[in-house]
Amino acid sequence: LPRLEIRTQALFHEYEITIGRGLLFEVGRISRDRLGKSSRRVALVSNQKIFSLYGPTIRQSLEARGFSVFSWLIGDGEGKKSLSTLAGVLQFLTKAELERSDAIVALGGGVVGDVAGFASAVYMRGVPLIQVPTTLLAQIDSSVGGKTGVNLAAGKNLVGSFHQPHAVVIDIDTLTTLPERELTAGWCECVKQGAVSTRKLFTETSDYLRRLTSQGSLLSPQLEQLIASHCAFKAAIVTGDERESPARRDSRSRKILNFGHTIAHALETVTGYQRFRHGEAVGYGMLVAGELSKNLGLLEGSELELLQQTIAMCGSLPFAGDLDENELMRAIEHDKKRNAGQTQWVLLARIGRPRIVNGSDIGPRLLRRSIRKVLQK
Ligand code: NAD
Ligand code: GLY
Repeated sequence: LPRLEIRTQALFHEYEITIGRGLLFEVGRISRDRLGKSSRRVALVSNQKIFSLYGPTIRQSLEARGFSVFSWLIGDGEGKKSLSTLAGVLQFLTKAELERSDAIVALGGGVVGDVAGFASAVYMRGVPLIQVPTTLLAQIDSSVGGKTGVNLAAGKNLVGSFHQPHAVVIDIDTLTTLPERELTAGWCECVKQGAVSTRKLFTETSDYLRRLTSQGSLLSPQLEQLIASHCAFKAAIVTGDERESPARRDSRSRKILNFGHTIAHALETVTGYQRFRHGEAVGYGMLVAGELSKNLGLLEGSELELLQQTIAMCGSLPFAGDLDENELMRAIEHDKKRNAGQTQWVLLARIGRPRIVNGSDIGPRLLRRSIRKVLQK
């Protein structure tokens, strides 16, 4: 089977992202190649649902390469991305007597990846991590780039660390069991990444979505290529700004990956994280950011239409017409306080040309109008 490989340069080491079909069977070989002979144990972190589908294959593959495998399952859902889940993982690692030459394998979506990644960053001041992402969102975004962490009661991702993986193994076959909504959420994140990268990647993404809506079959060699292009783009941005430098405002800053996120966070906050998958909220967030970009005279109407049509192909988004505009504005204000008093919006000058704009340059009336227009459709 063909494999796509991307080599990426992180601060402390290089790592490879391997993308293809049937790769779960090769996690053992890839891990052994990356970790060397001295590595004896692997802590496999997942959740019950994902482990029951794919755990035995990975376990066998690792054991065949001489690793002793110890598994730990965390609960499912964003609520489990917490300090107490992290404490459970760390305790398990000490019981499994994991050493610094050993590794953690994260098998799952962004929740498993972020928690297991954070554990690997802090256990014994850092042990190797192999990411095996199983959602579309995790395959194109969260498994690449080294952001790890958990949520606090006060907000999402408030504690964490940058810790790059030793390898990322993306088996696209795992997407066949992913629920429809999770695919929609993942596609929204693909559109997000396409919109701030290049016209070419955006077009590659929308072409794939168009084919998918007309033919319906998810897996194809083009999907591998598309995921590889997304990973290559993300890796390039991360290589240039690994720690998301707060001072940067240019179009290659890591901040551009937050396109659609200002409104997405507000939507998630006012609905108590109950209504939207993160990617779905980003879908609405991009529509509002696009509307703002047009109203500020940055973005042509035809570009906004292209963005809207592409987001529509991702799938249907949960109803949002009942949400209170004032509450959303308050949530944006609250986020602003947390970010040194300034919201930095990622807007578009064109598809493929992001612009970072200060919240103070966007009038509240314009913002309200843009929110209303999008949510009340
Ligand atoms: P998730 O991890 O909650 O997974 C979504 C659901 O799909 C879960 O119920 C999970 O059990 C299930 N699932 C996963 N793989 C499956 C499969 N192959 N078949 C069937 N079911 C499967 O959600 P997600 O969207 O993958 O990740 C969201 C998280 O990622 C958020 O916490 C977000 O903050 C984080 N994130 C992190 C980064 C980063 O750079 N670290 C980037 C983006 C998002
Ligand atoms: N998902 C945004 C980032 O990794 O920076």
